[in-house]
Amino acid sequence: MANRILEKKTFRSDLFFFVVDAPEIAKKAQAGQFVIIRVDEIGERIPLSLADINPEKGTISLIVMTVGVTSTKLSKLNVGDEISDIAGPMGHKTPIENYGRVILVGGGFGAAPLYPIARAMKQAGNTVISIIGARTADLLIYEKELGEFSDQVLVSTDDGSKGVKGLVTDVLKADIEANGADLVMAVGPAIMMKFVSLTTKPYNVKTLVSLNPIMVDGTGMCGACRVSVGGKTMFGCTDGPDFDGHLVDWELLMSRQRTYLPEEKAAMERYLCSCAEDASAVGSR
Ligand SMILES: Cc1cc2nc3c(=O)[nH]c(=O)nc-3n(C[C@H](O)[C@H](O)[C@H](O)COP(=O)(O)OP(=O)(O)OC[C@H]3O[C@@H](n4cnc5c(N)ncnc54)[C@H](O)[C@@H]3O)c2cc1C
Ligand code: FES
Repeated sequence: MANRILEKKTFRSDLFFFVVDAPEIAKKAQAGQFVIIRVDEIGERIPLSLADINPEKGTISLIVMTVGVTSTKLSKLNVGDEISDIAGPMGHKTPIENYGRVILVGGGFGAAPLYPIARAMKQAGNTVISIIGARTADLLIYEKELGEFSDQVLVSTDDGSKGVKGLVTDVLKADIEANGADLVMAVGPAIMMKFVSLTTKPYNVKTLVSLNPIMVDGTGMCGACRVSVGGKTMFGCTDGPDFDGHLVDWELLMSRQRTYLPEEKAAMERYLCSCAEDASAVGSR
């Protein structure tokens, strides 16, 4: 049944993985694209990257980090539940070609959408190096999965509990200096992608970033996802999500991501309140 959750994994208390029945999307989707979902009929639309695509089984995989109401609602769905709507595939696919030595850098949930990109880059004949980082070793995800299609997976943790003590950008810089790179691609929080782009700039290594501005329709109509790249206004949804990291106006992106913070905070408070009321109503029965 379309949109039904077939598999769920909890990676961390704030990070959930779903395999969802979505044959029409799985038929067409390519690495680097995304979907827009609504958890329920009155829910808001949120974009999520494709963490895998399986056209044979007719499934897509999604990873969600709980940051607000909709991601929290999604995280509470279980195998057998249905996601109300899934629109996609959206955006352009990541440009896959034989670049030579490709370094993929994942932060936060970003390591998961890199998985189909690593596979496609490997199939195109590239040497693939994946770099993932987290605050501590237990927060790292996708090391094993990325290892399936990477010649090497390099790890950094802030506290040194695994891999190099430091940031992904420290590992990236050292690897470029030692071995060079023909393409770097980063997926994750804007601040991480900004610093990856600043790291590669002096080496003049082409750097793709998968931008995550606020999106509403995902089809180029609302303008919510407006970003500035090389001084030109572009839409994250229809021109992206991948852009040249050296040309992105990062401050504009990050300030626009914060536009609705008070409303998002209020929505989360209302949601938590309604959950607490539901729980006490059940308790008093
Ligand atoms: C192309 C793209 C791919 C993405 N892929 C993933 C993914 O694979 N996994 C994942 O966990 N997250 C992904 N995100 C981010 C995800 O869409 C937001 O975390 C989610 O919308 C937050 O909604 P919320 O109601 O839970 O939180 P809210 O409390 O509403 O918002 C928390 C923060 O999330 C961001 N956000 C809120 N609404 C939107 C929106 N409609 N569009 C984009 N960002 C929003 C804002 O920066 C906001 O401050 C992606 C974003 C984009 C643009
Ligand atoms: S999300 Fe509306 S124009 Fe891109």
